[in-house]
Amino acid sequence: MNKSITLTSAHTEDLDAATRAPIIQLCVDAHQEEDFKNLFSYVPSGGWHFLAYRDDELIGHALVTTRWLQPEGQPLLKTAYVDAVATLPAYQGLGYGSALMRQLASEIDSEYVIACLETERETFYERLGWEVWRGPLAGRSESGLVPTPHQTGVMILCLTQTPALDLDRGLTIECQPGRIW
Ligand SMILES: CC(C)(COP(=O)(O)OP(=O)(O)OC[C@H]1O[C@@H](n2cnc3c(N)ncnc32)[C@H](O)[C@@H]1OP(=O)(O)O)[C@@H](O)C(=O)NCCC(=O)NCCS
Repeated sequence: MNKSITLTSAHTEDLDAATRAPIIQLCVDAHQEEDFKNLFSYVPSGGWHFLAYRDDELIGHALVTTRWLQPEGQPLLKTAYVDAVATLPAYQGLGYGSALMRQLASEIDSEYVIACLETERETFYERLGWEVWRGPLAGRSESGLVPTPHQTGVMILCLTQTPALDLDRGLTIECQPGRIW
């Protein structure tokens, strides 16, 4: 990392329009996905945003929302579900994303029992201590379990309060409108 960054975090409700706009642009640019323009429609409140600034420029972002994982044989676990992880393309590969995710892990530790995300970049997260869930996955809906046998890249991060887990057993999460994982 050749220049220092400032890492900070804020709740969705406290983000003004001038802060939201660069978050959206950053996610669109990094993911090449226009749907991030709807980020604050999908998460109007209740999110916890982790932000990396290089001087005044926003260069990194990750979003935590509360969801409920249930590993087989365990109670529901209060879960920090991580979405919209992004580093501005010009600054990728310099360690900023790793620094942001380490800060996120340390800040969520007292609030959550476990963390979870879904990704195609498993190696990036494995270096940071995340583990791929190997067992069968499913969503929990009002009408029962919705197996997701083709889902890949679901990873968890054990926190201080995480119970002993067997990653080869089942794992479920509550279904959300439009998505499971
Ligand atoms: C994935 C993403 C968030 C990573 O952010 P980043 O700032 O590039 O992350 P880092 O620089 O810390 O690490 C990226 C790679 O650079 C390497 N790296 C880290 N610091 C480095 C340094 N000082 N010098 C050289 N390489 C370095 C890391 O080993 C890492 O490699 P790996 O992914 O194979 O493990 C970013 O690439 C991104 O926004 N990608 C597009 C969107 C996306 O895929 N998001 C994640 C989906 S869940």
